[in-house]
Amino acid sequence: MSERKFRPDFLWGGATAANQLEGAFDRDGKGLSVADAMPGGKQRFSIIGGKDFDWTIDSERFIYPNHKGIDHFDRFKEDIALFAEMDFKCYRFSIAWTRIFPNGDELTPNEAGLKFYDEVIDECLKHNIEPVITISHYEMPLHLAKTYGGWKNRQLIDFYERFASTVLTRYGKKVTYWMTFNEINSAFHFPALSQGLVQSNGAGNYQNVFQAWHNQFVASSKAVKIAHEINPSIQIGCMIIYATTYSLDANPTNQVATLVQNQEFNFFCTDVQVRGKYPAYTQRTYDKYGVDANALEITQEDLDLLASYPVDYIGFSYYMSSAINETLTQEEADTVVGNLLGGVRNPFLEASEWGWQIDPDGLRIALNELYDRYQKPLFIVENGLGALDTIEADGTINDEYRIDYLRRHIHAMAEAVSDGVDLMGYTPWGCIDLVSASTGEMSKRYGFIYVDLDDKGNGTLNRSKKKSFDWYKQVIETNGTNLDS
Ligand code: BG6
Repeated sequence: MSERKFRPDFLWGGATAANQLEGAFDRDGKGLSVADAMPGGKQRFSIIGGKDFDWTIDSERFIYPNHKGIDHFDRFKEDIALFAEMDFKCYRFSIAWTRIFPNGDELTPNEAGLKFYDEVIDECLKHNIEPVITISHYEMPLHLAKTYGGWKNRQLIDFYERFASTVLTRYGKKVTYWMTFNEINSAFHFPALSQGLVQSNGAGNYQNVFQAWHNQFVASSKAVKIAHEINPSIQIGCMIIYATTYSLDANPTNQVATLVQNQEFNFFCTDVQVRGKYPAYTQRTYDKYGVDANALEITQEDLDLLASYPVDYIGFSYYMSSAINETLTQEEADTVVGNLLGGVRNPFLEASEWGWQIDPDGLRIALNELYDRYQKPLFIVENGLGALDTIEADGTINDEYRIDYLRRHIHAMAEAVSDGVDLMGYTPWGCIDLVSASTGEMSKRYGFIYVDLDDKGNGTLNRSKKKSFDWYKQVIETNGTNLDS
């Protein structure tokens, strides 16, 4: 039996995103982001999916949970101290683009915004926590979406380059780990958050989606170039959602559909960002989605840049797997309500309260599939269970279900390491409870730290430790060898 050991310098930590926890959406010169335009409530999911929306913020009708977040803006020292108490080696967070460039197209940055992240980074370093920064996590400036039409507009490359260059220059001497875009492959599912596309500016038109992707690939390569020029020891990665995809049966039709789904969803973006060139199946994918390759604006200079500046590692989120059965009609198919990435019900798996199918073995498969394909270090930068937590009469929160979920996933990671996968780190999502991206709820909680705030924005905002807090501390302190609770 081979030993399953994580690297001695394994990056245990947790992950968040600015728009989901900072709040203070209009403080210190911050501009509005696309996330600030996302209301809570039932309509949210179709809006982030790009439907029936023109970016209007209507505070009379809707609540906007991201505006308040969990007030991390004022409490980041307290929150980082709690991460340090769990012995975090790293903390993944994002920089709100709109704190630095409120509209996105300014020539000079907002010093107050830069200062805020100076303080966040210094606070991490004070506790020996490595910052892991996502440059853009689902929160491009609203102005760039409304006025420029989002990422399908090539001008966005320059705006992003200025933003990336500004933050890399400011923080690149003390921050080693970076990622360029959160879940860049989510554009089919969340065009509003990922590419600034909604119905009124072209969501659903795949010509736009692929042009936007190309622009993001170029922007990402520019960030890699700048990062390495500023500090050659910087490691800068891409970031995707990975959903291990199974054919539900041995029918070759379903096997082929699974192959195609893997190409289009799991691999398309990493093929470009890691290998530095568009994959062989690109034209076939364009044909399927009615994309006219000749009408895409892709220059030789762009292609040279992609080839010269691939990413250093692959960051990915993993929450669920997906099962394919194309031989059934829509009516016949037993779909899983809520399984974000679609597919049919996998009878071997249970689902979370929000319908996300839980599959730790799928994580081992994901790690092997990605490592076999690319031979680059992997970093699991999101994973976790969104669940309802109950506060007992004595104030404790016994989230054994969350411990069980994480334990099984960490075990699968250890198996993958034994398989030979080079895994850099693990940052479970929402290490402190925060606003859900897909539903806007607070009640969908992922944290080791509970935040007293409900879906309507009521609560003291007080922080308290869940049972999983001490458990995760022990996992970190034993470098993943003691997973008992
Ligand atoms: C990922 C996103 O897709 O999943 C996060 O990068 C998000 O922003 C996380 O919060 C969990 O999803 P949700 O919808 O439960 O918040």
